[in-house]
Amino acid sequence: MLKMRCPSNVSRAFLIVSSFFGIAIAQTEGQSEVPLYGQSPAVYPTPANNGSTSEDWAAAYAQAYSLIAQMTLEEKVNVTRGYPGTCVGNTGSVPRLGIEPLCLADAPDGIRGQEFVSAFPAGIHLAATFDRDLQHRYGHALGEEYRGKGINMALGPCAGPMGRVATGGRNWEALSNDPYLAGAAMSLITKGLQENGVIATLKHFLANEQEWRRRPNDLGEAVSSNVDDRTIHELYAWPFMNGLKAGAASVMSSYQRVNNSYASQNSKLLNGLLKTQFGFEGFVVSDWGGQYTGIASANAGLDLVMPDAGYWGGNLSDAVTNGTVSEERLNDMVARQLAAFYYLGQDDTYPPPSIYSSTQKHLPVNVQGDHRTLIREIGAAGTVLVKNVNNTLPLKNPQFLNIYGYDAQTSPSPWQNPSRYGGGYEVNFGWKTLNGTLITGGGSGGATPPYVISPFQAIQDRVISRTPPGNLRWDFYSENPTPAYVNAEACLVFINSYASESFDRVNLTDEFSDNLVNNVAANCSNTIVVVHSAGIRLVEAWIDNPNVTAVLFAGLPGQESGNSLAQILYGDVSPSGRLPYTIARQQSDYGSPEVVNGSVSLDYFPQSDFTEGLFIDYRHFDRAGIAPRFEFGFGLSYSTFEYGSSLYVTDALSSVDAYPSADVQIVQGGHPQLWDILFEVSIDITNTGSMSAHEVAQLYITVPGDETPVRQLRGFGRLLLKAGEKRTATFQLTRRDLSVWDVVAQQWRLPRGSYDIAVGASSRDLRANGTIQITQ
Ligand SMILES: *[C@@H]1O[C@H](CO)[C@@H](O)[C@H](O)[C@H]1NC(C)=O
Ligand SMILES: *[C@@H]1O[C@H](CO)[C@@H](O)[C@H](O)[C@H]1NC(C)=O
Ligand SMILES: *[C@@H]1O[C@H](CO)[C@@H](O)[C@H](O)[C@H]1NC(C)=O
Ligand SMILES: *[C@@H]1O[C@H](CO)[C@@H](O)[C@H](O)[C@H]1NC(C)=O
Ligand SMILES: *[C@@H]1O[C@H](CO)[C@@H](O)[C@H](O)[C@H]1NC(C)=O
Ligand SMILES: *[C@@H]1O[C@H](CO)[C@@H](O)[C@H](O)[C@H]1NC(C)=O
Ligand SMILES: *[C@@H]1O[C@H](CO)[C@@H](O)[C@H](O)[C@H]1NC(C)=O
Ligand SMILES: *[C@@H]1O[C@H](CO)[C@@H](O)[C@H](O)[C@H]1NC(C)=O
Ligand SMILES: *[C@@H]1O[C@H](CO)[C@@H](O)[C@H](O)[C@H]1NC(C)=O
Ligand SMILES: *[C@@H]1O[C@H](CO)[C@@H](O)[C@H](O)[C@H]1NC(C)=O
Ligand SMILES: *[C@@H]1O[C@H](CO)[C@@H](O)[C@H](O)[C@H]1NC(C)=O
Ligand SMILES: *[C@@H]1O[C@H](CO)[C@@H](O)[C@H](O)[C@H]1NC(C)=O
Repeated sequence: MLKMRCPSNVSRAFLIVSSFFGIAIAQTEGQSEVPLYGQSPAVYPTPANNGSTSEDWAAAYAQAYSLIAQMTLEEKVNVTRGYPGTCVGNTGSVPRLGIEPLCLADAPDGIRGQEFVSAFPAGIHLAATFDRDLQHRYGHALGEEYRGKGINMALGPCAGPMGRVATGGRNWEALSNDPYLAGAAMSLITKGLQENGVIATLKHFLANEQEWRRRPNDLGEAVSSNVDDRTIHELYAWPFMNGLKAGAASVMSSYQRVNNSYASQNSKLLNGLLKTQFGFEGFVVSDWGGQYTGIASANAGLDLVMPDAGYWGGNLSDAVTNGTVSEERLNDMVARQLAAFYYLGQDDTYPPPSIYSSTQKHLPVNVQGDHRTLIREIGAAGTVLVKNVNNTLPLKNPQFLNIYGYDAQTSPSPWQNPSRYGGGYEVNFGWKTLNGTLITGGGSGGATPPYVISPFQAIQDRVISRTPPGNLRWDFYSENPTPAYVNAEACLVFINSYASESFDRVNLTDEFSDNLVNNVAANCSNTIVVVHSAGIRLVEAWIDNPNVTAVLFAGLPGQESGNSLAQILYGDVSPSGRLPYTIARQQSDYGSPEVVNGSVSLDYFPQSDFTEGLFIDYRHFDRAGIAPRFEFGFGLSYSTFEYGSSLYVTDALSSVDAYPSADVQIVQGGHPQLWDILFEVSIDITNTGSMSAHEVAQLYITVPGDETPVRQLRGFGRLLLKAGEKRTATFQLTRRDLSVWDVVAQQWRLPRGSYDIAVGASSRDLRANGTIQITQ
C-alpha cells in the first residue's frame, strides 16, 4: 500500500520544461505568486534524461536504454530497490540480462566496518588544510580503496550538513560551513573517487543540518528545514553544484523535510533544482529508510530506494500498471542508474565485491597501499595552531615531558564494534567504551582504522629516540593529576569533543576537560593543549591562562593521528591548518539558539526556520560586529610571511553581462557560464621567517548590494615557501563567485558596481585590498 504520510508539495507555481535545440530550459510561471513561507513549490515531471549534455553521458545512456528495451516491468522495478546482502546497500539485479547488483558502502572518510582499509582524516579535517592538491589526492586514495574492495558506489563526499548548527552531530563528516571551501573539496574528492571508476554520492541533499528529529519518530514528523530560495542557492546547494560539475553520478537525499516536504519526495529539490537547474545526469538514492511514500517519491525524482523495497517493489509495478507513475519515469529511474554504471566504466573489469562477513575465514583483500603516508600528511596539514606564546612550539628536543588526558592514548579496539568506531569520550552519554583518542566521529560516517597511532605512542617514540633518551610521565584519567612532576619541560594536555550521527552535541565544551587543563596549568607554566574535536569547541575556560602557552586544534586526523601531531610538535612541519569555522567567545555569539543547538521543538510538525539566511558562522560575526576568539580561516605558523601591498587584477576575461546567456544548454553543474573565469587576482607572498613553511592565502570579496555578507571566501591557495622565498598566489574568480541568486529572474545575477577584494591570512587578517568594477 502506498501511503501519503505528510503534506505533499503545495502547488503555488509550476515549471515548464521546453525543448529548443534539444535543450532543457526551465521557466517558472506565476512569478507574481510568491511561494508561501516554508512551502515547497510543485515541480513535475522529472526531466527524463538521455545524456544529451556530454558525449560520455550520451554513450552511457545509449547503453542503458539498449538494456532497458529488453527489460520487463518487474526487472525494471527490481533495480530501483535495495536487497539485503554483503554490502551496506545492494541494488536489485537482473540475472537474465547479466545486470549485477551494485555494492554501496560508507563512509566519506574510509570504508566502514572492513579490514585492511584506511581511516582517513574526516572531512572537516581535510577542509582545514585549505589545500586543493591534498583534497584531490584524498579522493583518489579513497577511490583506490573502494575500487580495490569492488565497491561500486561510495556514500560520500558530504556537504550536508553545512554546519549551520554549531552542535550538529554530523558537521565533521562534511567539510566546512563556508560553501566555497566545501565546494572546492566536494569537487576534488568527487573527481578523485571517480577517477577510479567509483560512483561518488553527494550527500545529504539538502539542508540536513541537525540530528534531533531528523527522522519521523514518536513525537511526530521530522524537522522541516525552511530555507529561502536565495540561501539554498548561495549556501546549502552551492557545494553540491561543485560536486555535480565534477561529474558526480549519484546524489543522496536527506532524511528530514525541506519546506515541509520530505527531501526524498520534494519535487522542487529533486526535479527542479537538481535535475533541471543543475542538469543532473545521474540518479538520486534515498538515505537508508529515508523514503516515506511510494508514488510521491517516484514522481518527485527519487530513483533508488535503500536498503530494501521501501514503498516500491511490487507497489511500484502496480503504480506503473495503473498509470499513477508513468513508465517513462520508471525507465528514467533505471536509465539514470545504469548510465552511471557505464559512465564510470564499471562494465570494464571492475572487481567483484570483497566484503567482510563474520563467517568468512580467508583474509580480505588489503587495499591500504601507501595511503598512510598521505593520511599522515593531511593529518599534519589540517592541524591548526591557535596560540603559541614565545615560540613554545616547536618543541626543542625536550628530555622530560608530562602527558595528561584520556585523549592521549589509544581507544579500545575497533573490533568491539567494527562498523561503529569512534574514538573519544562523551561525558554526557556515559559511553565509557569511547574513552580514548579521537580520530574520527561516530555513526555511519566513521572510518574503521587498521591501527591507531596515539599521540602518546608517537611522542614516546620521539622522546626515546633522542640522545640520551628522555623521560615521560603520564596520567590519562585523572581530572586533577598529582603530583605535578615539576621537572618536566612541558605538560601536554589532550582533550577532545566527540560527535556522532543520530544526536547533536549538548555543549561546545565539557567540564571535565576544562578542569583538567586548568588543573594542570595550575602547576605547570608550560602547558600545551591539544584539542581533538568533531567541530567547534570553545576554549574560554583556559585560553587566557598564562600557563597555557600553546594550543593546537588537531581535528579528526585519522589513523596516523600521533605521527601527524608529532610532526607539528617537533617542527618537522610548520603548521598551516586553518579553522574551517569560527571559534566564538561564548556559544550565544553564534546567533539564535537554533544555530547553536538546532531546533528542539516538540511539535508534531517541527519547524526550523533558517531566518538567518546566508549569515551563518563568520558572515554572522562580521555583520553583527562580534569579535570571535579565533576567526574563520585563522591559524598560526612557525614562520612569518609578508604579503605584497598590491593586488594584481586582470581585466575581465569573459563576458560580464548581468545574466548568463539564455538558450545555452544546461550541463551537469548548472549553466556552463557560471564556471567562466571572469577575473584573476594575484599577490606576491614572501616567507620572511627562517624555516620552510606553507602559507594559506585567502581571498574574500564583498559583493555590492545591501543584503550581501561583509565578506565571503572566494579563493584560497596553500603555498610552500622556503625561507626567504617569494611566490605569487593567483586566484580565479568565476561568474558564480561574484553573483547573487536573483529570486525574481530565477537566475544568477552579476550585480553592477564595485566589488571589494581582500587577500590575507584569515577572514580578519587582511593584508591587501583592491576592487573590481563591473559597470555598464
Ligand atoms: C522553500 O520555500 C521558499 C519560500 O519560503 C521558496 O522560496 C523556496 O523556493 C522553497 N524551496 C524548496 C526547495 O522548496
Ligand atoms: C533516448 O535515446 C534512445 C536511443 O537514442 C531512444 O531509444 C530513447 O527513446 C531515448 N529516451 C528518451 C527518454 O528520450
Ligand atoms: C531482483 O534482484 C534480486 C537480488 O539481486 C535477484 O535475486 C532477483 O532474481 C531479481 N529479480 C529479477 C526478476 O530479476
Ligand atoms: C507495498 O508497500 C508496503 C509498505 O512498505 C509493503 O508493506 C508491501 O509489502 C508492499 N507491497 C509490495 C507488493 O511490494
Ligand atoms: C495505482 O496503484 C497504486 C499501488 O498499488 C495504488 O496506491 C493507487 O491507488 C492506484 N491508483 C489507481 C488510480 O488505481
Ligand atoms: C614570554 O617572553 C617574555 C619576554 O622574554 C616574558 O616576559 C614572558 O614572561 C614570557 N611569557 C611566557 C608565558 O613565558
Ligand atoms: C577511561 O577508561 C579508564 C580505564 O578503563 C577508566 O579508569 C577511566 O575512568 C575512564 N575515564 C573516563 C573519563 O571515563
Ligand atoms: C597544584 O596546584 C594547586 C593549585 O595551585 C595546588 O593546590 C596543588 O597543591 C598543586 N599540586 C601539586 C602536586 O603541586
Ligand atoms: C555547557 O557548558 C557551559 C560552560 O562550561 C556550562 O556552563 C553549561 O552548564 C553546560 N551545559 C550543559 C547542558 O552541559
Ligand atoms: C603557573 O604555574 C606556576 C607553577 O609553575 C604557578 O606557580 C602559577 O600559579 C601558575 N599560574 C596560573 C595562573 O595557574
Ligand atoms: C543549548 O542547549 C543546552 C542544553 O540544553 C543549553 O544549556 C544551552 O543554553 C543551549 N544554548 C542555547 C544558546 O540555547
Ligand atoms: C583592507 O580592508 C580591510 C577592511 O575590509 C581592513 O581591515 C584592512 O586593514 C585593509 N588592509 C589594507 C592593507 O589596506
